[in-house]
Amino acid sequence: MLPRGPVRTAIIVATFTAAALLLSLVYLFPPTFTREYFIAFVTLVALSVAATLLHLKFTEAGSTSSMDFVPELGAILLLGPSGAVLVTLTSELISESLLERAKPAYKKLFNASQLILAVGLAGLAFVEFGGLPSLESFPIDRSFAPFVVSVLVYFAVNTGTVSFVVAASEGASFLPTWRRLTGGLILFDLTMSSLAFALAWFYVQVENPLFVLFAIIPLIGLRYSYGTNFELQRLNTDLLRLMVKTIEAQDPYTSGHSLRVSECARAICQELGLRGKQQRNIETAALLHDIGKIDVAYNEILRQKGPLTPEQRQLIRDHPARGVDIVRSIRSIPGDVLACIRHHHERWDGDGYPDGLSGSEIPLGARIIMVCDTIDAMTTARPYRDPLPISVVREELIKHCDAQFDRAVVDVVLRSGILERIGDHVPAPSSRLITASKPTPEVVTGSRTN
Ligand SMILES: [Fe+2]
Repeated sequence: MLPRGPVRTAIIVATFTAAALLLSLVYLFPPTFTREYFIAFVTLVALSVAATLLHLKFTEAGSTSSMDFVPELGAILLLGPSGAVLVTLTSELISESLLERAKPAYKKLFNASQLILAVGLAGLAFVEFGGLPSLESFPIDRSFAPFVVSVLVYFAVNTGTVSFVVAASEGASFLPTWRRLTGGLILFDLTMSSLAFALAWFYVQVENPLFVLFAIIPLIGLRYSYGTNFELQRLNTDLLRLMVKTIEAQDPYTSGHSLRVSECARAICQELGLRGKQQRNIETAALLHDIGKIDVAYNEILRQKGPLTPEQRQLIRDHPARGVDIVRSIRSIPGDVLACIRHHHERWDGDGYPDGLSGSEIPLGARIIMVCDTIDAMTTARPYRDPLPISVVREELIKHCDAQFDRAVVDVVLRSGILERIGDHVPAPSSRLITASKPTPEVVTGSRTN
């Protein structure tokens, strides 16, 4: 059954537009039905299906990235826009029946439609910019520029339509969704498109199309190289999360704290336009910011219900440095992550610890973690109070701008809807609620043991 709202509209529009485009292309560029055409068609479909079967799950969102666009873009150069669309449609039907039997029909329909739109419009762009699809000759100089245009059109339509539907279904903004789904791989995909150009050239040069099937060998190599790399990264992340869970198991009031701080930091990074490595480093630092508390010296403090002694307060102030010492032993953790962990309790006015840095001396990631850490402390229950309402959190953030927090980071939180999304998950307060007029000092310094 079709989902409701803008997603439903998008699927219907994409399906009808794709059907109209398919018919128009077949009418404008009729297939030739020669033996050569048929052999090329079967070869390209076989390559496309094989590439799909070797699909990779390696974007940050866990979405599938397949190399099937290589033979499909190659089909534009060899068979023209209509042939390329027919190759894509046939390959998609075969692949879906082999791989995705349980997938809802409307998802299959949308997937096929957006691929037809992407390949069809890319094919039209190729012809429109002077490209001449042919199985007999391959003029590199004349084909290259139109091919580049067609690749850009392909990825714009492909990633644009998918991101639009995903953003609409999640009620999220388009650009952050696009960044999340492409996972920084768009440049990799654009580079890999040159394989399509090489494939078409090779096909025209060799007499035997079976040789072209050898093109699958570099695809297998790429699949394993990127697949292995992705799996290793995921294993690293899982291990880090396990470490953090182990620490938080000691204190039920901070359960899930680091993960929520990391998610909040990611949302702020996306709103600030940070991406790739910088975003990943800040997320990782946010996840590990309190790792220093794994030290046995903190066991007693984490369980203690009463006020802290001066010695215990000093011990608490040591946890960022202890955290850096622990994380430093993981060689793959970059220096930027260590800096964010060390400075996540520095205040904008210089009154924080451990080094008393102020303003932009504090790494941006540490300033982001400081804000997220405090938001999470305020929006979760403590032994001495219930979660604070979002309106109070908002007031506290504004009140402590330029003293505790970087105003630029707070502005992003206030205008982006991040607070409201967090508020959706905050449990309803009970009678122990502390009102807006009397926020406790602990509120603005994060949780008591931070
Ligand atoms: Fe901390």
